[in-house]
Order: sequence, then C-alpha cells, then structure tokens
Amino acid sequence: MDKFTLNLFEEAELIQMGSEILCTGAMVLRGFALCDETAIFKALDTITIAAPLRYMVTPGGFRMSVAMTNCGSYGWVSDHNGYRYDAIDPNNGQSWPNMPDVFLHLARRAALCAGFDNFIPNACLINRYEPGTRLSLHQDKNECDFDAPIVSVSLGIPAIFLWGGLRRADRPIRVPLLHGDVVAWGGAARLHYHGVLPVKPGYHALTGSCRINLTFRKAI
Ligand code: SIN
Ligand code: FE2
Repeated sequence: MDKFTLNLFEEAELIQMGSEILCTGAMVLRGFALCDETAIFKALDTITIAAPLRYMVTPGGFRMSVAMTNCGSYGWVSDHNGYRYDAIDPNNGQSWPNMPDVFLHLARRAALCAGFDNFIPNACLINRYEPGTRLSLHQDKNECDFDAPIVSVSLGIPAIFLWGGLRRADRPIRVPLLHGDVVAWGGAARLHYHGVLPVKPGYHALTGSCRINLTFRKAI
C-alpha cells in the first residue's frame, strides 16, 4: 500500500470529521489541513520571502484585490497580455519556489479522499484575501488538462465559498469555509463556476486579519 492510499482508520476519521458532497465530483473535507497547519505556515513563510504576495493586474488594466503568489513548477499570472501559467515569476525573472512536500502530500491525500487518484499538482496558487475582498464567479479553465482535479485549502479567517453549476447563471450554493477546510472538485464538477463572497472582518491567530487560500492544479 503506498502512502497515498487511505487505511480504514483514516477513512473512519474522515467520516467522523465530516465531509460533504457538493455535487457529483465535488467534496468539502472539513478540517482536513489542520494536522499540517504548522508545517504549512512555515513553508508559506519561505515561499513568500522568495516570491512575495503581490497584486496582479487584469488584462483590462485593473489591480486585482486578492494578493497572489505561487509555488511549484508553474505559477498563475495575469497582466495586460492575459491570464496564463508561467514557469517564471515576472517580478524577479526566477523560477517559482518549489512546491514543499507538505503541500504536495496534502493535495494528493485530499484529492484521493474526494475520489481522484494519483493527482500530481505542478502549480499552487496562493491567494490572500483581506476583509472586504471577494472573488467573482469563475471557472478554472486556464489549465491544459481538465482530467486533473482542483484542490483548494482554506486558512485563516472564514469565508463563504460560492459553488455554482456549469453555467454562470446557475444559482450558486453558499458553503462556509473555515481554517483547515479543503474543497476538491474534478470529473463532472471540474468546470463548475465558483467564487468567494466579500470576506468579513475577523481575526485568526495564524493569519491575523486575512484569509489565505491555496489552490493546487495540474497547470500544464
Ligand atoms: C479560487 O477559486 O481560485 C480560490 C477559491 C477560494 O479562495 O476559496
Ligand atoms: Fe477558482
């Protein structure tokens, strides 16, 4: 049995912690990242020293309200040329910081729990939401391979995640996400619209007044 296979104890733990199915192919794994929180924040410090969080600019010239950076072989970038994945951080001309093992293993375990075997993410987008910041409904469709799922890890202050359908007009459900919750979606749910409502002011010991979200993708 490889280390990404769940044993019966882990399966029981998952059921006990509570996991919710949003629709076929999409699952919320409550508290799934909590056991790794210390290692996650240590790794985040190292990443954000090498590749600081920054406000990217939309193709239309607007400054995005969510501050972003990346780790892994590819990073998601936006500028006047459009949205894309790039192996180079445009701020310093260097590769993005490596994806730490704790990130990779967390994403793989979460994907497996949601039914997606052998997920090998090569990009992790790190988003920082300050109070009042939102992410409008969108599909994650800059990736080349829609067979791979998306794994999204919520850290810090809570947020309301919007989970919609395959059409923008499908009315989204509201899913409260707390520190340590993980959402994974793929298969039939891979191109569902999703977003985040404006984040309410709050405080968390590990992130202060912010929410941090990590999304793991197979970018290329
Ligand atoms: C995203 O859609 O890329 C991020 C979602 C979130 O912040 O929960
Ligand atoms: Fe997204």
